[in-house]
Amino acid sequence: MEHQSVHILLVFLALIMLSSGCSAVDTISANQEINDGKATLVSKGEMFELGFFSPGKSKNRYLGIWYKKISYGTVVWVANRETPIADTSGMLKLSRQGNLVISSGGNSVVWSSNSTGNNSVVVAQLLESGNRVVWNRNKMIWQSFDYPGDTFLPGMKLGKDLVRGMQWCMTSWKSPDDPSTGLYRNIHDTNGYPQTLRFQGEILQGRHGPWNGLGFGGFPIEEGNQIYSTDFVMNEKEIYYKYELKSSVVQRVVLTWDGKTLVLQWIERIKDWMLYSTADVDTCDRFSLCGPFGICSINKHPPCTCMQGFEPKNPEQWEASDWAGGCIRKKPLHCGNGSGDGDEDGFWKIARVKVPDTRRVWYNVSMTLGECEMACKRNCSCAGYTSSDIRNGGSGCLLWLDELLDTREYDVDQDIYVRIAASELKGTRFSSKNGLFLWV
Ligand SMILES: *[C@@H]1O[C@H](CO)[C@@H](O)[C@H](O)[C@H]1NC(C)=O
Ligand SMILES: *[C@@H]1O[C@H](CO)[C@@H](O)[C@H](O)[C@H]1NC(C)=O
Ligand SMILES: *[C@@H]1O[C@H](CO)[C@@H](O)[C@H](O)[C@H]1NC(C)=O
Ligand SMILES: *[C@@H]1O[C@H](CO)[C@@H](O)[C@H](O)[C@H]1NC(C)=O
Ligand SMILES: *[C@@H]1O[C@H](CO)[C@@H](O)[C@H](O)[C@H]1NC(C)=O
Repeated sequence: MEHQSVHILLVFLALIMLSSGCSAVDTISANQEINDGKATLVSKGEMFELGFFSPGKSKNRYLGIWYKKISYGTVVWVANRETPIADTSGMLKLSRQGNLVISSGGNSVVWSSNSTGNNSVVVAQLLESGNRVVWNRNKMIWQSFDYPGDTFLPGMKLGKDLVRGMQWCMTSWKSPDDPSTGLYRNIHDTNGYPQTLRFQGEILQGRHGPWNGLGFGGFPIEEGNQIYSTDFVMNEKEIYYKYELKSSVVQRVVLTWDGKTLVLQWIERIKDWMLYSTADVDTCDRFSLCGPFGICSINKHPPCTCMQGFEPKNPEQWEASDWAGGCIRKKPLHCGNGSGDGDEDGFWKIARVKVPDTRRVWYNVSMTLGECEMACKRNCSCAGYTSSDIRNGGSGCLLWLDELLDTREYDVDQDIYVRIAASELKGTRFSSKNGLFLWV
């Protein structure tokens, strides 16, 4: 009898140690805590683990989420990025009000999720997607996916929550040893018509064109892609872009500390991440390399040319491969002034382009291309137009009311229409009809 109860006690103790130590628990409830070095949370399918760690050569402690089943220790999210803990006294606790709090040295608060729920029906759970969520009954009151760091995981949003006035963006680490906010950031800018921009500090390095119904202008997505699907949503509440994986493939997008945006895919055979694609690759991706009304063509040498009807603003600089000054009109626009032959403006179509910078465009997603042309004609400051959505022959309207910046030739079915003096259009028609080569 004695012997048996001792035995039961031992089994019981072993179970307690398992559940508090290294067993796979994905949830903590109100007033439960996770102490550095003592416990972690593990998502149901064991893809992700949450706990305290030290990045690279650093001795600082951070609360983070990393892969567990594959690529053990590869960090995808950090809570106290800016407020490291110098020792192993870190503790994560879910308060009765639903607030996730990290403290160190007993009591000093290092980080807090600021989420609030109702009394003690709150739990914090690490999901198999890598998202950490605080639930109040069945209502989500906080999620780590709302606070991306250097890693964009399937299901995350990049863009803006218009209701809460919150931006979802990617920010690089300072170095491999320091997860605090570094120099680089990728944002889905919502000025004008939304597009993704890459910044180094305050310098705009490059951009993907706006969503055109199929993909981003400068980042086409193969139709019928088997690996992932992308989604762009724009309504009164939010504007965002996200992607979801369709198969069992494991991918992550990371903005490295030195400013590269990499799409990485896990290859089980070699047990490593392979580069699936990079977002920023060539000369023409440098923002506005060819200046206003210039076009960048990666297959041309030099890559910059002026749009039809335009010439280099500063020919000497242009000759010296300094294209930033861009191009100016050869002939001024008439814009309804005067009458008769040659007094009207026309539009020159440039096929297959990444559309110019859309931060200052006017748009209407319900207009037809014909209405769009009329709207551009009516406004003297309109320099060009295009469809906002290229599917089914094109719909919607983007109007540029000043210069056309950062246009590049691209292998995508999007055209822009540039306003030039009609005489410039006539010149080219004449020359081609008569087989004359008036091109410079
Ligand atoms: C919580 O609120 C504090 C104080 O307003 C703020 O400094 C901190 O950044 C907030 N935490 C998060 C995760 O937003
Ligand atoms: C808390 O409970 C009140 C009343 O039951 C409800 O109106 C409110 O939405 C709840 N708040 C949260 C964050 O769940
Ligand atoms: C139209 O004509 C007026 C007067 O001749 C001139 O001031 C104005 O600049 C012209 N507008 C354009 C767009 O050329
Ligand atoms: C957008 O265009 C549609 C179709 O022409 C029109 O009915 C609507 O009033 C326009 N909306 C705005 C805000 O201009
Ligand atoms: C042209 O569009 C701009 C921006 O919407 C507006 O401020 C300006 O009044 C318009 N001009 C005309 C003539 O419609």
